[in-house]
Amino acid sequence: MTHHDRLLIIDFGSQVTQLIARRLRELSVYCEIHPFQKVTESFLTEFAPKAVILSGGPSSVFADGAPMPPASVFDLGVPILGICYGQQVMMHCLGGKVERGHGTAEFGRAFVTPKDADLVLLEGWFEDDREQVWMSHGDHVSEIAPGFDVYGTSPNAPFAITADTERNFFAVQFHPEVHHTPNGKKLYQNFVRLAGFKGDWTMGAYRDDAIAKIRNQVGDRKVICGLSGGVDSSVAAVLIHEAIGDQLTCVFVDHGLLRLNEADEVVSMFRDNYNIPLIHADEADLFLNALEGVSDPEQKRKTIGKLFIDVFQKYANDIDGAEFLAQGTLYPDVIESVSFSGGPSVTIKSHHNVGGLPEKMGLKLVEPLRELFKDEVRALGRELGLPDSFIGRHPFPGPGLAIRCPGEITRNKLEILRRADAVYIDQIRKHGLYDEIWQAFVAILPVRTVGVMGDGRTYDYACALRAVTSVDGMTADYYPFTHEFLGETATRIINEVQGINRVTYDITSKPPGTIEWE
Ligand code: XMP
Repeated sequence: MTHHDRLLIIDFGSQVTQLIARRLRELSVYCEIHPFQKVTESFLTEFAPKAVILSGGPSSVFADGAPMPPASVFDLGVPILGICYGQQVMMHCLGGKVERGHGTAEFGRAFVTPKDADLVLLEGWFEDDREQVWMSHGDHVSEIAPGFDVYGTSPNAPFAITADTERNFFAVQFHPEVHHTPNGKKLYQNFVRLAGFKGDWTMGAYRDDAIAKIRNQVGDRKVICGLSGGVDSSVAAVLIHEAIGDQLTCVFVDHGLLRLNEADEVVSMFRDNYNIPLIHADEADLFLNALEGVSDPEQKRKTIGKLFIDVFQKYANDIDGAEFLAQGTLYPDVIESVSFSGGPSVTIKSHHNVGGLPEKMGLKLVEPLRELFKDEVRALGRELGLPDSFIGRHPFPGPGLAIRCPGEITRNKLEILRRADAVYIDQIRKHGLYDEIWQAFVAILPVRTVGVMGDGRTYDYACALRAVTSVDGMTADYYPFTHEFLGETATRIINEVQGINRVTYDITSKPPGTIEWE
């Protein structure tokens, strides 16, 4: 997207650097995060940022080999904002002084009061006489660099907000990007406005750019896309189809571990509604036969993963002359994170790749969502006309119902599970709770228990309901359903699903639990 104005975030390893990017994207500003090790003088020249942000980080400027940006960053003539460690780096590089912690470390909530609120960065910020901010630093600045003045202080941070207005350099001790600095976004808004960003990073613009880029990359050649029915691969497929039409073929591997009616819904949506050439690889028997007698969770995943690649490859080979494989890789999967034990490391979540297939088949990758966060993918999906009900779907794992059926999988158990899950989700939708929940599903337990129905005893499966709230799936909390909801749902499942006579609710958070049962 070279014709967008770009902001460069130099990452010094803070846990919250990604949040800086989120805040900027919310302001329709295009930015990229790059680890400090990668940002050399030539990188800076090539990237040509319109503004730079120096992130926080866990290091001390006194440490051997302390993370530093190239000195030339201060000669670019563009506005720079240093945050926490980024502030210390600025002072250290520009002639100020930083001192070690020794009793002045500050963590948590603090209040900043203005010393001189007449600074562009602070416009509209101090609504009351003070603003809540979030501090998290060990070392601190003890003398500001020549050219800098103080604009805000907190009880423990005499240099909470500093700036050199000649050069448009700003340095703050706190983290404006985090939730606990409630009005922090205002600072970013002022910063990018002062830097001259037009705020043209909209989904409409992204869509047009992405289409042009795909056409340019692919030309008149063919692309294969593995469709899972999830949001990411679906949005990628619709976008690519809009760019290159029938040069795209989607392969939907149906492993027999999908939810009730799911395969039909995916096929009808893509083939019938969008007219996207779609191969429905109905390989349920192959997968379920291979899983017979397998109860070890890792073995299940491996069996499914390996077969998935074989099947995908088999169908893809039938698409004559395909040269590209499309993937719904997202920005959080490709951000290079700062690693202090070695060079920058690239984190790519393996389940986003069709396990080494590109190399195996000699395919090049098309990844049109690489620059987007999850909620931006949803916005793009809406822009492309995908129905809201589809875009808001809860995540569903690659191994499907296999990991919601602890122990050995049988066709009978899968059938019971599908029907119980459908009742549960129906209940959640009826009560208007679907969008409040990150993920909800039923797990069928590998135990049968005694019950009594009518005049007879039953000996059927027990199941567990799971529903969690989460932001990214990394941590999660159970959803606090009312007793009425739980009671009504249990009754419906037992009455409507033959094979289940006991319903439990899983109230484990993650950690220590996981969201899935296997
Ligand atoms: P856990 O169970 O690890 O799940 O707390 C976190 C999130 O990841 C999903 N998940 C998977 N997704 N392949 C996937 O595509 C997998 O093997 C897999 N395992 C877990 C899970 O559904 C939840 O959203």
